[in-house]
Amino acid sequence: MLGNCALILAAGKGKRMGVGFNKQFLDINNKPILYYTLKAFDQHEEINSIILVAAEEEIDYCKNEIINKYGIKKVKKVVCGGEERQHSVLNGLKEVDDANIVLIHDGARPFISKKIISDGIKYANMHGAAACGVTPKDTIKIIDDKGFSCENLDRDTLISIQTPQCFQYDLILKCHNDILDKNIKITDDTSVVEYFGYRVYIYKGEYSNIKITTPEDLIIGKNLSQMLNC
Ligand code: CTP
Ligand code: MG
Repeated sequence: MLGNCALILAAGKGKRMGVGFNKQFLDINNKPILYYTLKAFDQHEEINSIILVAAEEEIDYCKNEIINKYGIKKVKKVVCGGEERQHSVLNGLKEVDDANIVLIHDGARPFISKKIISDGIKYANMHGAAACGVTPKDTIKIIDDKGFSCENLDRDTLISIQTPQCFQYDLILKCHNDILDKNIKITDDTSVVEYFGYRVYIYKGEYSNIKITTPEDLIIGKNLSQMLNC
């Protein structure tokens, strides 16, 4: 059986964090955010390889200051990212040697649990495509172009989608390749397969699986890393 590959995306600019450099190199409890993310997949027995996608000028830094420094063993390649997240994903997918399941995960989600990884592999094997998510804590409304609320959504039917998003490798590679010339805006990888009519199974994520995006997430992240003991 072919193995399972984690594709870790770290080629963004982190503009909303506002520190002037890639947020994934910021420390939480004296270790870089990206270290926690890589470690979670490195230590998982069902993950056979990791491909890290990084900005061209940050590839050496990732190798020296994170992968080698902290002894991350399963990273097979560090691949150059693209302008949009979608391009970074495709660059990474092309470099997967061969795999059964690919788990696409934000480098900026360092508190990914063992269970979420295992469940992602399980459900992608069963359904071809799976992603985790949580029920939103806030009420979600749709507003009109004047800024007034015009529709209330039933919270019980809503899910806030996280990563990893997990797919049979052949399926996600083909869909990402095919969507390139369609010129549509893609915000996550489930939308890519859904565009071509495939169904995505949504399984239970965790509130602790946050994406470090804005400065207050760093404070939450620091506490989470203590709470989760990682
Ligand atoms: N990402 C990537 N390549 C891009 C854009 C984003 O690999 N061209 C990665 C980011 O590094 C991050 C993940 O995708 O781990 C989720 O993106 P996001 O949280 O939006 O990170 P940034 O794009 O870096 O942040 P911002 O949108 O605030 O600039
Ligand atoms: Mg972004």
